[in-house]
Amino acid sequence: MSTQLPYIQNTEPERSILDSYRTACALELNKTLDLPLEKAFEGVHVGSKNGDFHIALPRFRLPGDVKEHAQKVHDQFKPNEYIDTCIVKQGFVTFQATTKNFIRDVLDQIHTMSNKSPTGKPEFGTSTVAGQGKHVIIEFSSPNIAKPFHAGHLRSTIIGAFLANLYEACGWKVTRMNYLGDWGKQFGLLGVGFERYGSQEKLKADPIAHLFEVYVRINTEAKEEDEKLGKKAQDDEEGAEEEAAPTEAGNTINDQARRFFKRMEDGEEGPLSLWKQFRDLSIEKYKDTYARLNIHFDVYSGESQISQENQNKAIDVLTEKGLIKQSGQSQIIDLEEYKLGKAVVKKMDGTTLYLTRDFAAAAERYDTYHFDKMIYVIASQQDLHTAQLFKAMDLIGYDWAKNLLHINFGMVLGMSTRKGTAVFLDQILNEAKSVMMDVMKKDSTNKYDQLEDPEWTADTLGLSAVKIQDMGGRRIMNYKFAWDRMTSFEGDTGPYLQYAHVRISSIQRKVADETVLPEDPTKDVDTSLLTEPKARELVYLLSQYPDVVKTALKTHEPNNIVSYAFQLTHVVSSLLEILKVKGQEQKLAQARLYLFMCAKDVLGSAMRLLTLTPLEKM
Ligand code: ARG
Repeated sequence: MSTQLPYIQNTEPERSILDSYRTACALELNKTLDLPLEKAFEGVHVGSKNGDFHIALPRFRLPGDVKEHAQKVHDQFKPNEYIDTCIVKQGFVTFQATTKNFIRDVLDQIHTMSNKSPTGKPEFGTSTVAGQGKHVIIEFSSPNIAKPFHAGHLRSTIIGAFLANLYEACGWKVTRMNYLGDWGKQFGLLGVGFERYGSQEKLKADPIAHLFEVYVRINTEAKEEDEKLGKKAQDDEEGAEEEAAPTEAGNTINDQARRFFKRMEDGEEGPLSLWKQFRDLSIEKYKDTYARLNIHFDVYSGESQISQENQNKAIDVLTEKGLIKQSGQSQIIDLEEYKLGKAVVKKMDGTTLYLTRDFAAAAERYDTYHFDKMIYVIASQQDLHTAQLFKAMDLIGYDWAKNLLHINFGMVLGMSTRKGTAVFLDQILNEAKSVMMDVMKKDSTNKYDQLEDPEWTADTLGLSAVKIQDMGGRRIMNYKFAWDRMTSFEGDTGPYLQYAHVRISSIQRKVADETVLPEDPTKDVDTSLLTEPKARELVYLLSQYPDVVKTALKTHEPNNIVSYAFQLTHVVSSLLEILKVKGQEQKLAQARLYLFMCAKDVLGSAMRLLTLTPLEKM
C-alpha cells in the first residue's frame, strides 16, 4: 500500500489489517469533523457483514446537528485505496472497504503471518501489545490425589489450558500452574489404608486407580467403625469444622489417620516418604494424560508445598487486623462484615485448612513470581472460597490482591462412561476414542484404511468432542454430558469442526496434480479474480479473527472462539459449492485455492487456541 496511515496507539496493523482500515475510517472523521484520531478510532465498529465499518456519530457528542455532520463526512469523502464508499443515514456513517485491496491485504497478511512469521509459528490472531512485559499465573486443573478426577477438574483443565494459550497469544508471559490437592487429613487416612491394603506393584502400575481403591476402602471402614461406636460420622472433606479431639489413647481408624497426618505435618521421614511416593507417581501419570490433551504445566505445586510458617504468618497478620476469632478451640476468620461469612483457618489440633493454605500460597506466589495477574480456574461451587481468599489478601493490604481473578464455570451433569462407571479422566477419554473409532469404521465415506494411524485420529476426534462440548456454551452454564450429541459429526460439535478442517485440507490434495499455490502467493496469485460477494464475506470474516481473540481475552469465554470457528466453517461450507477449484482455469483455481488455504490457516489457529489438534485427514 502506498499511502502511509497515521499510527494509532495500541493498534497493530502489521498483525491485524482491520486496524489499517479502521484507521482510514477514523482519518475521515478526523479530517472532516476535527475529532481526535484516537477518539474517532474507538467509534469505528466492524459491521456484521460485507466489509462495512459503522460509526454512530451521536456518541461523540459534537456540538451542532449530527445529521449535518454525517452529511459533511459524506460530501467531503473521496474514495481511496482503503475505503471506496461512504453512506450516511441520519447520524450514522458507513464506510465500505475497497474490495480489491481489502481482499489482497487480508489474505496476504493471513498467509504471511500463518506460514512465514519470524518465529516460524502461525501468528495470525496473536498480538504483542496487550500483554507486553506482563506475567500471568494461571492455576488450573488442580485435582486431588487419591480422589476421582471429577467433572469440575475436567472443566478447569480444558478452560484453563485454553486461557493459558489465549494469554500467550496476546503477548503475556504465562506460567501454567497445577495446584494439587495433596495434603490434608485424608492423606493420613490414605497412609493408614496403604499400610493395610496397599501394594507397591499396583501403585506403580496404576497409581491413580490404586490409591483411589485404597482410599475408598479405608474410608468406608472408618465410617462403619465410627457408626458402630456411635460417633458422628466424620466428614472427610476439607473444612469439616468441629472434630473430636484426637485422643492419644483412641485407636479407631480415624484416630490413626489423624496421628499419621500429624506425623506428616511434623515432618517425620517415614510417613512423608510414603506420601511423596504417592504424589510423584500420581503426577507422572497425570502428565501422560495432560500430554494426550495437548496440555502441559510449568509448575506442579500443591497444598503440600505451602509452608507451615507462611500459613501461620497469614493467620498472624489477619489476627493483627482483628479478623481472626477464637471459636471453641478453633480459629476462624470473620468476614461477615463483607457478607462473606466465617471460615475456620486453624483447627484445634493445630492443623490448618484448605483456605489457610490458599492464603499462604497466594503470598508465596507473589514473592516468587511478582505476577501482574493471577487467575484461578475453579468451579463456581468455590465462589465463596475465592471471594474469602481475595478479600483476606486485600484486607492484609497486599496491593496485588486486585490482580487476583477467579474464572469460574458451571457443572457438568452426569459425566460418566456410557455404562455409567467412570471416575477417572482416562476412562472418559478412552471411551470417547472408542466411540469415534466405531463411527469411523462404520462410515463408508471415511478412508479409514488409508489413515496412517487410525488410533491416533480416533483419539484426536474423541478429545475434540469432549473439549468442544465443554467450551461451546458460556462458562457459567451447566451442561449435560451427552455422548451421542458430542460425538456426532452434525451440529456444532468437535468432530464437525475437525471434519470441516479436513474438508478444506482435502481441496488442496484433490487438485494437487493440476493446481498448486506459487511459492509466494502474495506476489503471484491474482486475488482480484475473487469477485463473488460470498468470497468477500469470507475474507471479511477471516479479517476479524484477531478481534475475536481480543474479545475472548476480555470475557475469558472460550465460546467466543468456538462460535467464531463454527461461523467460519459454515461460510466455508457454503462456498465450497460456489467456488470450485477443480477443473478451473489456472489463475482462477489458484486464487480460490489461496482463499481456502487462508481459511484453513485461520480455522487451524482457532482450533489450536482451543487446544485442539487440527486434523488433515480422517
Ligand atoms: N483441589 C481443589 C479441588 O479439587 C481445587 C484447587 C483449586 N485451587 C485453589 N487454589 N484453591 O477442589
